[in-house]
Amino acid sequence: MSVLVEIRKLSKVYTRGREKIEVLHHVDLDIEQGDFLALMGPSGSGKTTLLNLIGGLDSPTEGTLSIAGKRIDDLGEGALAKWRASNVGFVFQFYNLLPMLSARRNVELPLLLTRLGAAQRKRNAGIALDLVGLSERSAHKPSELSGGQQQRVAIARAIVSDPTLLVCDEPTGDLDRQSAEEILALLQQLNRDHGKTIIMVTHDPKAAEHARHVLHLDKGTLVDRPEAVLA
Ligand SMILES: Nc1ncnc2c1ncn2[C@@H]1O[C@H](COP(=O)(O)OP(=O)(O)O)[C@@H](O)[C@H]1O
Ligand SMILES: [Mg+2]
Repeated sequence: MSVLVEIRKLSKVYTRGREKIEVLHHVDLDIEQGDFLALMGPSGSGKTTLLNLIGGLDSPTEGTLSIAGKRIDDLGEGALAKWRASNVGFVFQFYNLLPMLSARRNVELPLLLTRLGAAQRKRNAGIALDLVGLSERSAHKPSELSGGQQQRVAIARAIVSDPTLLVCDEPTGDLDRQSAEEILALLQQLNRDHGKTIIMVTHDPKAAEHARHVLHLDKGTLVDRPEAVLA
């Protein structure tokens, strides 16, 4: 088994005026390639902060963060954005789709940052929508789709560049139980059948049961670890 995400003594301090708030304190964590990890913890414990660091949306104050052997903690904003575009897919609680674009156009968006031509972009977006079971809705705008369907579009957008890593922040937080189960089943399928490594923040113990491992954050510190890390 190989380690995909290697985190050492990772800390994040936010400054508000003269006040410094340490949101993450010396986090050590290895995440294996192919894992599906659920990250739980009380509101404000630093889950989103940790997820955003792993996804390269933000940089740590201290410590090191390597993904697939590449250090990303010391990258500047431009290099980090470039790294992110080809290595990470993001799924958010409120889908973050652009309302005026069709499902297919939304899914195509990340490909505008690549060298793919229009025909290839359209084809890849079609493949991703097919994978999430929404090909027949590709011309619909987000407002014409249910919450569960919008989240499927967001997942298609997250995987369209074929990233190794999927980071999901409360992906079922705004969904009813049945839609949530469908989204979780889809994430499991992406993990099991398509080799995606998934890190999912959730409040919901039922959602966490779909993961292979569960970790808990409390006040910026990991309070337990999966067997893989203890070994
Ligand atoms: N950009 C920011 N500036 C200042 N404080 C922040 C910022 N982002 C998050 N925080 C603070 O960091 C703490 C952890 O936030 P977050 O990672 O969003 O927690 P969680 O996702 O577990 O609810 C909270 O106290 C929050 O107010
Ligand atoms: Mg959060």
